[in-house]
Amino acid sequence: MIKVYAPASIGNLGVGFDILGASITPIKNKELLGDYVSIKLSNLFKLTNSGKFSKELPKSYKNNIAWKAWRLFSKKIKTKKNVHITLEKNLPISSGLGSSASSIVSTLVALNILFKNPLDKHKLLYLMGKIEKDVSGGIHYDNVAPSYLGGVRLIINNKKNISQKIPYFKDWFWVISWPGTKLSTLESRLVLPNTYSKKTCIQHSKNISCFIHASYTNQSNLAASSIKDIIAEPFRKKLIRNFSQHKKNIKKIGSIAYGISGSGPTIFSICDNKKTAKKIKKYFLKNYVETKKGFSFICKIDSIGARTIGIKN
Ligand code: HSE
Repeated sequence: MIKVYAPASIGNLGVGFDILGASITPIKNKELLGDYVSIKLSNLFKLTNSGKFSKELPKSYKNNIAWKAWRLFSKKIKTKKNVHITLEKNLPISSGLGSSASSIVSTLVALNILFKNPLDKHKLLYLMGKIEKDVSGGIHYDNVAPSYLGGVRLIINNKKNISQKIPYFKDWFWVISWPGTKLSTLESRLVLPNTYSKKTCIQHSKNISCFIHASYTNQSNLAASSIKDIIAEPFRKKLIRNFSQHKKNIKKIGSIAYGISGSGPTIFSICDNKKTAKKIKKYFLKNYVETKKGFSFICKIDSIGARTIGIKN
């Protein structure tokens, strides 16, 4: 039996739509922000769901991402064997925290280990992107790449080298808050225009190059100042209750950058000290969380990505 954990992730990072993402982990050890998948060989295919958000998973196993991942993987490696997958769903679905990516990554990493690593890192990441496309309606690696490989990842236009690790600011705290409501990636992508003006394209290129330059030259303030989402936020903010008001309030508290995590409705705030991060978490819990299941966590970048939690023969 192989058990793998894959962390939650923030796609887009406010700048770098579809091409920049980060994996995150709560600073308190016991807080769970990622799915676990356990897999063993079995005579017949079996899928068991458990975890805090397992009730939200599709009723038919054929609509479950873990099954989709298994189907594609088994085709790719041409195996006739069967498996029993247990998916511990700890991330809310359609939350903007890379929930589907976490399930895809943990399933594929566990399968690859169980079958003695038939696919290399690039082939596995490519497969992850394919499944993510099937689920969200558009190919994007900004959740699967960080959840799999850890850190802040830049997606580059190279089939053999899909993502690159870029340096990140160790002193940044990433406060995330999920209000407890759903927003599907498909819906959130549909509100985006098909074309952007020349002015927007140039400005966005400046913002992303500024962020990458600042990350490599360790200029925290410059990096934070380039976190401006002019691609998705102007169109998606109407799907998020009081987005602009929260943005103003959080800035006043001391946040250095703020944005929609993935396709929302989770929002994130970056702080350069723990005291402010705590204040912002408190603000989110009081003003943004709408249901009992909603939450807010203070996180750091997860430099590891997917990891094996246990192997038993
Ligand atoms: N980059 C993707 C989007 C992430 O914003 O649609 C989805 O989680």
